[in-house]
Amino acid sequence: MDFLNHFQYRRLKSQIKVFRNKVIKKIFLSKIANHKKIQSQKFFDLGINYLEAENLISSLSQIYPQIINKYSSEHQKLFAGLRKIKPKKILEVGTHSGASAFLLQKIFKNSTIFTLDLPDTSSVFDAKRFGRPGRDKPHSHLNFIEERNRILSNARIIFVQMNSFYLYLTKHRFDLIWLDGDHSFPAVAFDFMSCLKILNKDGIMICDDVIENNDVHKCLIFLKETNSLEFELIFKKTDDLSNRFIAICKKLDPKIKNILVDTSISY
Ligand SMILES: C[S@@+](CC[C@H](N)C(=O)[O-])C[C@H]1O[C@@H](n2cnc3c(N)ncnc32)[C@H](O)[C@@H]1O
Repeated sequence: MDFLNHFQYRRLKSQIKVFRNKVIKKIFLSKIANHKKIQSQKFFDLGINYLEAENLISSLSQIYPQIINKYSSEHQKLFAGLRKIKPKKILEVGTHSGASAFLLQKIFKNSTIFTLDLPDTSSVFDAKRFGRPGRDKPHSHLNFIEERNRILSNARIIFVQMNSFYLYLTKHRFDLIWLDGDHSFPAVAFDFMSCLKILNKDGIMICDDVIENNDVHKCLIFLKETNSLEFELIFKKTDDLSNRFIAICKKLDPKIKNILVDTSISY
């Protein structure tokens, strides 16, 4: 009898476990569905049809499955949705494997894409560090470079090996910037300043990996408070519930006129 009770108890316990897991799964799925609904509305507010953008990425990922992973992150759909703005010059800070430069070149058919990363010889450059364990194939440093160079071999992609710190020296101006290099202070603050300087007046800057109170977020808040830019956040992923975001930034004119910044005033 005791044994039976014990047996029944164990069965009941496992049934409760199955039921509990089903409820948790249901809550999770409904939260994900809600996430996607909010994201779709955010895209709509930016003038982008989310489904259309998603379909474009899906079809590109079918043609180039080794390079474009449709589950990668929502920046891809954002690029797809922005194709109507027809940027002449695009800048990517942080090339890594070249996947985003490749995608940009596929989406923006008439644009030139400048993409920069640290020199291959840089002691900071570390393909493993920036790889995604468990998702990327394990590359050796050389294989990684070879593969990246193959992906980037296109007449409209210009790959530059340089620390993004030196961007403030460039004379180029850009209509679209994908800021995705070093996300930590102080590098990210220098990148923001350079990119603001070289972004055309009606240009768009997209920044990856905004997390509440991280250095990217702190820069965004600071630049908003100084009237240097305005930004909207979209979810970075819609298939998980992490609170990582992507920022879409528009440059503002802080309208500062004084002896230091207004060149029409001479002293
Ligand atoms: C997150 S990965 C970029 C991913 C890529 N943009 C994409 O969408 O697939 C960040 C890259 O930034 C590069 N990086 C880090 N600090 C940098 C710096 N100071 N200047 C240039 N590139 C840098 C890293 O080497 C790395 O390849």
